[in-house]
Amino acid sequence: MNILVTGGLGFIGSHTVVELIKNNHTVIIADNLINSKIEVLDKLSTITGIRPTFYQIDVTDEQAVESIFNNHKIDGVIHFAGLKAVGESVEKPLQYYYNNLVSTMVLSKMCVKYGVGKFVFSSSATVYGDQLSPLKEDMELKQTTNPYGETKAISERILTDTANANDGLAVSILRYFNPVGAHESGLIGEDPNGIPNNLMPFVTKVAKGQLSKLSVFGNDYDTIDGTGVRDYIHVVDLAKGHVKAIEKNESGVKIYNLGTGQGTSVLELVNAFMKANNIEVPYEIVGRRPGDIGSCFADPSKAEQELGWKADLTIEDMVQDAWRFEMNNK
Ligand code: WQD
Repeated sequence: MNILVTGGLGFIGSHTVVELIKNNHTVIIADNLINSKIEVLDKLSTITGIRPTFYQIDVTDEQAVESIFNNHKIDGVIHFAGLKAVGESVEKPLQYYYNNLVSTMVLSKMCVKYGVGKFVFSSSATVYGDQLSPLKEDMELKQTTNPYGETKAISERILTDTANANDGLAVSILRYFNPVGAHESGLIGEDPNGIPNNLMPFVTKVAKGQLSKLSVFGNDYDTIDGTGVRDYIHVVDLAKGHVKAIEKNESGVKIYNLGTGQGTSVLELVNAFMKANNIEVPYEIVGRRPGDIGSCFADPSKAEQELGWKADLTIEDMVQDAWRFEMNNK
């Protein structure tokens, strides 16, 4: 299939492009480079032997997006492009609502207009709000704690209503837990601009000496060691889940958790990183980060049953692959 991947030079997008090409799909990438680097295109060529077609456009720009549908017969869309920093979304809600919702609406409109049959959406476990884990797809969604999470929940509704009104469009909504790690080549990985918000890129930059120490946000949660528990999933497993979804979903709206079902605490992850890579990561326990919840992990059984997909890479794979990328990343 000809697959349009928006945000295809980003962290999860680039790893999904690799898996799509491995499965003999033709990939067209649209990315505005706001949170990615053009060098990733060369890395994708090196890894796969194929240089995907690339358009540097903003997917809120309807004319620019339509030109892609005029130039290519698009069979499916995987929509990653979006602003995704929780804290930033609280400071700049309008930018988040405009960018993340208009991009979803523009792409949905083009899919209907050009008869595209499949749409896979990058959603997030954030839409569950502060509910008790393990989280299941049929749970009622609660008010999320930030505008970023709201843009994901509203985008899910836009896509659900669009699919319900257009029989020819199959929508897969994939709710990610905590994607970490990197491709085994060490050529692509998580490379955020500026000081990382997320745990793993912060850990790798402390290990590299670029940051002095890790602040552990609270050790008074009701968890195994008091620090926050999350469902970390290797980005390559996550990417493979997207390929399964776009190949298997032929009709209607399907929602899947993409997680491992295992919870890991901050200190467990940091200790696994230090042990597997034989390197020190100095840290200090500080106060809780506003908006954080204590424990969040998936019930991933629906994706396993319906997509035949299961995450199989381990925490050790994640911390080793993340470190290899950080060491390679100039
Ligand atoms: C993980 C754990 C922190 C940094 C967010 C978004 C979610 C998704 C993934 C986009 C928590 C602790 C972190 C640090 C720390 N983003 N931590 N020190 O908050 O679970 O999820 O990123 O799709 O939508 O909500 O991820 O990596 O920020 O935090 O102690 O410097 O690490 O408290 O327990 P989070 P995270």
